[in-house]
Amino acid sequence: MLSLARSARQRHAQRVAYRAQRSFRAWVVDADKGKLKSREVKHFEHVRELPQPDPDATVTVDVKYSDLNYKDAMIFQGQHGVVRRFPLVPGIDCAGLVASSTSELWQRGDAVVLTGNKIGQHSDGGYSEQCRVQAEWLAPKPESLTLEESMIIGTAGFTAMQMVLELQDAGLQPGPAPVLVLGAAGGAGSMAVAILAQLGYKVVASSRRAESLSSYFQELGAFDVIGALERNPKPLQDQRWSAVLDCAGSPSLGTALAQLQYQGACACIGVAGAQHVEASLYPFVLRGIRLIGVDATLPWNVPGYPGDVATWRRDREKRLEIWRRLDELKLHQALRTMHEATIPLEELPQWCEMPGMKGTGIHVWYCNVLCVVYSMLFLANAPRIYLEWLLQETSACWIED
Ligand SMILES: NC(=O)c1ccc[n+]([C@@H]2O[C@H](COP(=O)([O-])OP(=O)(O)OC[C@H]3O[C@@H](n4cnc5c(N)ncnc54)[C@H](OP(=O)(O)O)[C@@H]3O)[C@@H](O)[C@H]2O)c1
Repeated sequence: MLSLARSARQRHAQRVAYRAQRSFRAWVVDADKGKLKSREVKHFEHVRELPQPDPDATVTVDVKYSDLNYKDAMIFQGQHGVVRRFPLVPGIDCAGLVASSTSELWQRGDAVVLTGNKIGQHSDGGYSEQCRVQAEWLAPKPESLTLEESMIIGTAGFTAMQMVLELQDAGLQPGPAPVLVLGAAGGAGSMAVAILAQLGYKVVASSRRAESLSSYFQELGAFDVIGALERNPKPLQDQRWSAVLDCAGSPSLGTALAQLQYQGACACIGVAGAQHVEASLYPFVLRGIRLIGVDATLPWNVPGYPGDVATWRRDREKRLEIWRRLDELKLHQALRTMHEATIPLEELPQWCEMPGMKGTGIHVWYCNVLCVVYSMLFLANAPRIYLEWLLQETSACWIED
């Protein structure tokens, strides 16, 4: 009798140990109308148990690294503007190894990267040791990069590369006239400076912290560093820039447009500094300039986005091309310059909430299997931006950014 009870106890202990081995951790954030209700690291045994699994997912990824972007930190604070509904596992990107796949596109062990497609917004994201996603959302990890480096690049670098490609499609080529990067100290801005410099462009980095970060920008390859562009209402000014990359939603975007060369183009991605543009139409109609909006989420089969397969395929090819181009660039030195810290998964909230931190570039954090890349400038701006959102949002509106 006694030995039967002992072996039952042993079997139970083995089952518990087996489950503990298989279980994985994920951050789960819950909020209501912009107010954070809870956020905690939870243990799960199966990806199906996560709060918002994607019904069309076919691939399970063992996540090794993720990063912290502007949107991630908003979501981590319970902001509802970029999330369809809570509770949710945040993390708008990740890199890892395919654990299982029923799609022909991927096999167990493939190294993959994932940005966009609204993960961490419409479905569970990368702040989880496992995530389950649609096969077409994934791209092969660039060969020259480690998984960690691919997440130092992350959504910020992916977006910066997309901006550069859009501007090249609009005619941009290296030449004597400089390219201006607004909001250069942020994640996307830093990556834009590094990418353009590596491609042989003369880059001018514009940042509100030009003075303190001058050597940082020079290390990234900037030709010149200037402060925030002074606002000037004159509609047509000296034609200083061959192109502009607005990585900030800069309040002086209108001024930059008035300084663009004939038929020059400006790409813009965000609203961190301003949500509206004060600009004259004169440079558009007299100099033929262009303003190009860039959306790096490129959603494939995401409810609420274009349902046409041809568009999905074109966008997927664009996604693969962006990673190929990042692969070719050999950005290792710049990535080392931007990488500042690697931290455990559990410390994420502390890093999100440190007010007025002073640093530069992008930060990589890890916890055995999870790594977070982070832009310090965002940290410094987070509380202010959070307040702005609270003030602006009177109801549960849906804002895509
Ligand atoms: N469209 C897309 O697909 C896409 C993809 C990625 C990111 N985004 C958006 O792009 C923006 C930048 O992303 P990120 O990850 O690079 O964020 P980030 O690291 O926080 O950088 C934002 C930068 O904007 C500048 N900035 C912030 N507040 C400003 C203000 N009041 N006036 C002037 N400049 C200000 C700062 O640059 P300085 O200190 O150098 O002036 C800051 O470093 C965010 O709005 C983000 O949501 C969009």
